[in-house]
Amino acid sequence: MRTGIGAALPRVDGRLKVTGAARYAAEHPADGLLYGVVVSSSIAKGRIVSIDTAAACAVPGVVDVITHENRPHVAIRSRSYSDAIAPSGSPLRPLYDAKIHFSGQPVALVVAETFEAALYAATLVAVEYKAARHNTDLRNALDERFAPSGSRSEPKQSRGDAPSAHNDAPVRVAGEYHLAVEHHNPMEMHATTVIWEGGGRITVYDKNQGSQNVHGYLAKVFGFRAGDVRVLNPFVGGAFGSGLRPQYQVFLAVLAAKKLERSVRVSMTRQQMFTHVHRPECLQSVSLSSDKEGKLKSMMMTATSAVSRYEAFSETLLDWAAIAYSCDNFKFDYAVAPLDIPTPGDMRAPGAATGMNLFEIALDELAYEANIDPLELRIRNYSEKDELHGLPYTSKALKSAYREGAARFGWAKRSQAPRSMKDGKELVGWGMATGIWEAMMMETAASATLGANGHLGVASATSDIGPGTYTMMTQVAAETLGIPVESITARLGDSDLPKAPVEGGSAAAASVGAAVAMACRAVAGKLFKAAKKADGEALGKAKLEDVEFVDGAVRLKSDPSRAVSYGEIMRAAGEQSIEGKATAKPSGGDKKARNTHSAVFAEVKVDEDLGVVRVTRLVSAVAAGRIINPQTARSQIIGGAVMGIGMALHEESIMDHRLGRCMTHNLADYHIPAHADVPEIDVIFVDEPDAEVSPLGVKGVGEIGIVGTAAAVANAIFHATGKRVRELPITIDKLLD
Ligand code: MOS
Repeated sequence: MRTGIGAALPRVDGRLKVTGAARYAAEHPADGLLYGVVVSSSIAKGRIVSIDTAAACAVPGVVDVITHENRPHVAIRSRSYSDAIAPSGSPLRPLYDAKIHFSGQPVALVVAETFEAALYAATLVAVEYKAARHNTDLRNALDERFAPSGSRSEPKQSRGDAPSAHNDAPVRVAGEYHLAVEHHNPMEMHATTVIWEGGGRITVYDKNQGSQNVHGYLAKVFGFRAGDVRVLNPFVGGAFGSGLRPQYQVFLAVLAAKKLERSVRVSMTRQQMFTHVHRPECLQSVSLSSDKEGKLKSMMMTATSAVSRYEAFSETLLDWAAIAYSCDNFKFDYAVAPLDIPTPGDMRAPGAATGMNLFEIALDELAYEANIDPLELRIRNYSEKDELHGLPYTSKALKSAYREGAARFGWAKRSQAPRSMKDGKELVGWGMATGIWEAMMMETAASATLGANGHLGVASATSDIGPGTYTMMTQVAAETLGIPVESITARLGDSDLPKAPVEGGSAAAASVGAAVAMACRAVAGKLFKAAKKADGEALGKAKLEDVEFVDGAVRLKSDPSRAVSYGEIMRAAGEQSIEGKATAKPSGGDKKARNTHSAVFAEVKVDEDLGVVRVTRLVSAVAAGRIINPQTARSQIIGGAVMGIGMALHEESIMDHRLGRCMTHNLADYHIPAHADVPEIDVIFVDEPDAEVSPLGVKGVGEIGIVGTAAAVANAIFHATGKRVRELPITIDKLLD
């Protein structure tokens, strides 16, 4: 079986995961382990007046109840709490003082010899508050909207004269769109096990997307020397962005370990997973106009996303439409508005999942207004360059995605009129949308070590939050050095390993892949030198470019019979191991645009009597450069598409604004798509050779699956019912009049 780049290699860590041998953050054992349970604020804003811990402390097994009044010393300045991903503002300092910023904020940590004792004692902690007036309703915060500083794109963008173009255009649509708050809800909840090593040293197993980001945070906040903290996240049970920044449980676990000089574990409950990072609520107005042939004349969008009062999290929300489509006049205004909530954060395709999905619904409205097929309308506005920045692409095979996706779906058989297709008593709707995301690469280091026994180890401090990073690293190494995958071990998820950024933004395959390839090539170079010394005869006068590294041997490209095995080389050179190290850096500057694209086609069936929507078919055709592993990449697109179905139909964190609290804080009330909600998802990767986007030609596929999917489903619902719902998710109540 071929196992190198392009092969559908099953996950190399699959067996460990399905047998339970893979340990997650809350599963690492430690001698004398203590358990911390978080007590959460019951008010959304105000101050703690007093905390009575006497009853909790009296519970047998309780060791301590840590509050802002008795905590050990921690960094004072809020800047010390900034991490690599922090937006502008002052990060949360848990148990720092009496101030309450949001409902669910940790106010105490009960630490006990058993989890049960801590859990029970936490119910006995009596907190008296002085509540202040809070606001958790975005619609009541619009007066306070402001342009976030350090925003990832220009909050205000314009070209031409959009208002005049809009007024003069023969075809116009305008609407107000809304996206509800969404919570990531990975299967593994946020958890930390701190192992007290003695001598002031700690080993921290933490659920996160970047062990070195958490390492840096802990060193600054608690004043550890770098060598005294090691953070590990070898397995992560999903994250979707929720683990990009250190979450409060890692702070609390380390705080308790430091105070008590014991090993401590703190896990968030599923309810507490709704008291931190989330995709921000967004209100977005869209006005579009075109000529009678559907050529865009103007795009005007204003978006407001919710942020916390202490940090101005921002996203690239509106730019995508102006990158993707050719239009002479646009006017965008993106701002945020502060609420008394925890700081939102990145969630799968942050910004694009919100802004592009809502825009793609508006574009569908324009297609009906102009009476043009929605796919045809997109093709008429197609652009071969990044329209916003005026840059050519390294590659853009979106047209192939439109064509192949439409063919697979059978789009040509669609009838344009809403309510024109039926299956028995159910209305049938076909909708489509475009997806776009960035193809990023980030500076990443890796090492490769070849042993005399033929085993190769490759390592990087990157994470594997689910996409199959272990597998990808193994395949790249196998390809580069011609070693079977069974003889390769990939290591990651350890702050002691070669420097790597957080795993996010779909950048890991391009970045870590390139680093692993370079480290393996460094090993190859050393092997070649040693081979020439050891056995000059077989390779003759060959130069490095005349040989290849195949089947565990250096051999002449011109004469494969002339080869020297790695084992022979190392024996002759008397080497026990050969090591290569490399740092892969993005190159190419800003002269070209780098994006992934998708064309998503959805079929829904709607029972109008009940308002029930079923997604019955979904085709996602993706242009993402070179695909290292079609099996794991397909899983990424399916995962994104399922989240897109959730965004379209189900996922919604509902606030009780009187309490300022999220009321859907469990997986019964916060519905994520279950098997019955998800049809067979057909994933197509179109051919998109790209020698420029990254060293391996890889663009990355984590996020692109969600962008466009929610819009395709929403547009299919309109096609089925003739009813345009501009608020996601489109729940049953919105379809029943
Ligand atoms: Mo992803 S939201 O970049 O983890």
